[in-house]
Amino acid sequence: MITDNEPEYQIDLWADGKKSAHDRVKQMTLTPATALIYKPLIQVIDLFCGGGGFTQGAINAGSQVVLAVDCWQPALDIHEANSPDVPTAKIELGGSIIETAIVLRRSLTSGCHFHLHGSPPCQNISNASNGDPEEGMVLVRWFLDLVEYMQPDSWSMENVVPMAKRLPKGTPYVKLNSADFGVPQTRNRIFAGEGWVAEPTHTQEDWVSVLDALPYLEGELTAAPSMVDRWSNVGNNHPFPTVTSQSPKQIRVVSRRRKAGEEPQSYTPDRPAHTITQVQHIIEYPNPTKAVKIRSLTLQETAILQGFSSSMKIPYARKKDAWTVIGNAVCPPVAEAVIRGLL
Ligand SMILES: C[S@@+](CC[C@H](N)C(=O)[O-])C[C@H]1O[C@@H](n2cnc3c(N)ncnc32)[C@H](O)[C@@H]1O
Repeated sequence: MITDNEPEYQIDLWADGKKSAHDRVKQMTLTPATALIYKPLIQVIDLFCGGGGFTQGAINAGSQVVLAVDCWQPALDIHEANSPDVPTAKIELGGSIIETAIVLRRSLTSGCHFHLHGSPPCQNISNASNGDPEEGMVLVRWFLDLVEYMQPDSWSMENVVPMAKRLPKGTPYVKLNSADFGVPQTRNRIFAGEGWVAEPTHTQEDWVSVLDALPYLEGELTAAPSMVDRWSNVGNNHPFPTVTSQSPKQIRVVSRRRKAGEEPQSYTPDRPAHTITQVQHIIEYPNPTKAVKIRSLTLQETAILQGFSSSMKIPYARKKDAWTVIGNAVCPPVAEAVIRGLL
């Protein structure tokens, strides 16, 4: 129990009237009891909130998400199912900055730390897209204008890596790999923003693998046909590989098909997954003649590889929409690190 008699210690307190988030930090000497009173509540507004990856991480970091906005009902349905206490609004963002700021401010309480997050859609900006990247930048620039106008205490904006080179000169950003935050996936994303430092929780040596996250897969994989069965009838022209017991290394997970005749992009399940998109990853064993599909990862398993909890609810009217929502999500542990890292 904390009492007023405990020794004094230093705590950061946000003071009013300063321009940048960094300037607002002021050292105060408080007793633990008064520190509890003065420690400001962090309020987060999550724009382009999708199914709630960023929201989930912000809640896990102990902040209060006071508003989550998206214009797409399937995303809001998943958001509301998992964060029923977070108010949501269905708004087509990208219009008047002043009117948007007025609406958003209604959700904020004075005296709290205000963090503004946005994940504007990235389809046209990503390398895989055939669209005009400058079109994709319209909502990115709109979000940056909103930050400039609202002057939040801190802010973050997540997007695909190619967005970085299109950011206005001087915009601060970092590239974060989800695997460094305990997510069983090597997903690289740009996080622009100010007022936080996201500290990695994992080094490459202790990255979480697909099998760590979905341990029951091991049983399914060992049930695949043995090396002898797979190679015994391919004829004398094929060298026979070293026979070992069936191991996850002899199984691959295909993350993207290439043109006919080309090897697909794949990884072994004893390491983190490749970037999750809207495309299902498929477990298969690479036979000498034709790869044999074992099965696809399910929506629920894919959500776990995105860093969501295994109890995540994924309601949908059209399953394709749910795949889009899960594939687009910010990994919650990365969002958690951003909010925990507020300066
Ligand atoms: C990258 S996803 C967001 C992911 C989300 N931050 C998460 O963590 O799960 C982008 C979202 O922006 C939404 N969106 C696209 N254009 C929009 C607009 N003009 N206004 C509001 N939302 C929009 C899409 O419906 C989609 O859910």
